[in-house]
Amino acid sequence: MATVLITGASRGIGLEFARQYAADGARVLATCRDPDRAAALAALAGDVTLHRLDVTDLAGVDALAETLAGEAIDILVNNAGMLSSGQRAGGIDFDAWEEELKVNTIGPIKVALAFLPHLKRGSGRRIAFLSSTLGSIAENTSGAYMLYRSSKAGLNAAGRSLAIDTAQDGMIVLLLHPGWVRTDMGGPHAAITPEASVQGLRQVIADAGPEKSGRFFAYDGREIPW
Ligand SMILES: NC(=O)c1ccc[n+]([C@@H]2O[C@H](COP(=O)([O-])OP(=O)(O)OC[C@H]3O[C@@H](n4cnc5c(N)ncnc54)[C@H](OP(=O)(O)O)[C@@H]3O)[C@@H](O)[C@H]2O)c1
Repeated sequence: MATVLITGASRGIGLEFARQYAADGARVLATCRDPDRAAALAALAGDVTLHRLDVTDLAGVDALAETLAGEAIDILVNNAGMLSSGQRAGGIDFDAWEEELKVNTIGPIKVALAFLPHLKRGSGRRIAFLSSTLGSIAENTSGAYMLYRSSKAGLNAAGRSLAIDTAQDGMIVLLLHPGWVRTDMGGPHAAITPEASVQGLRQVIADAGPEKSGRFFAYDGREIPW
């Protein structure tokens, strides 16, 4: 039975990852900022345990890794993320930018590094980062979203290095775009449901071999240019 650690599992895509993996019989270590306010997560059927984690609290990440020391984790889904706004140049809130880099870039890399010993103990050895096509510099033809785009482009760059640096341990590191998904972030008019997105993402994660590590894929398997 696989063990899966998921960040930002209180709602949206993270909650759906927890639901689907648990329904498949996996052991799910679901993290969220406030377990007391994660009713949907707490109500999931299956082997799901809740752990408190704010990915910007680097000491808190280390503390959770210590709490779970000795555990074998097969798949890490680095899902927690934020989108503050779509400001264009001229209307930039620099404090918001710093926060976005902490949540979307630094936090997920910190989580991956803190849990490498647990992942090495597992047999799946997969690290999935929820990125976005908005982080693709090649596909940026419409501008705006300077904060979010740079935070996901930074995640892509760091994730690629992590893939190379951990290849000798057999880690498979994936940068993933979930599609435009109907969540609080994606909004009610988004193109696909969390169910469809996560079904596709889980397939991409399951199918990936070492040759896919350090690359950027959409939920439907399309490779995205950096
Ligand atoms: N939806 C889309 O169309 C779309 C498209 C491309 C990429 N993505 C990416 O997919 C991932 C999930 O997106 P979503 O649509 O599910 O977003 P969402 O509905 O806004 O949910 C975001 C999740 O991240 C958690 N989170 C936020 N800041 C956190 C922090 N500092 N520490 C720990 N958890 C934190 C939230 O927890 P709380 O409940 O505590 O706030 C929530 O569980 C994100 O990385 C996002 O950038 C989404």
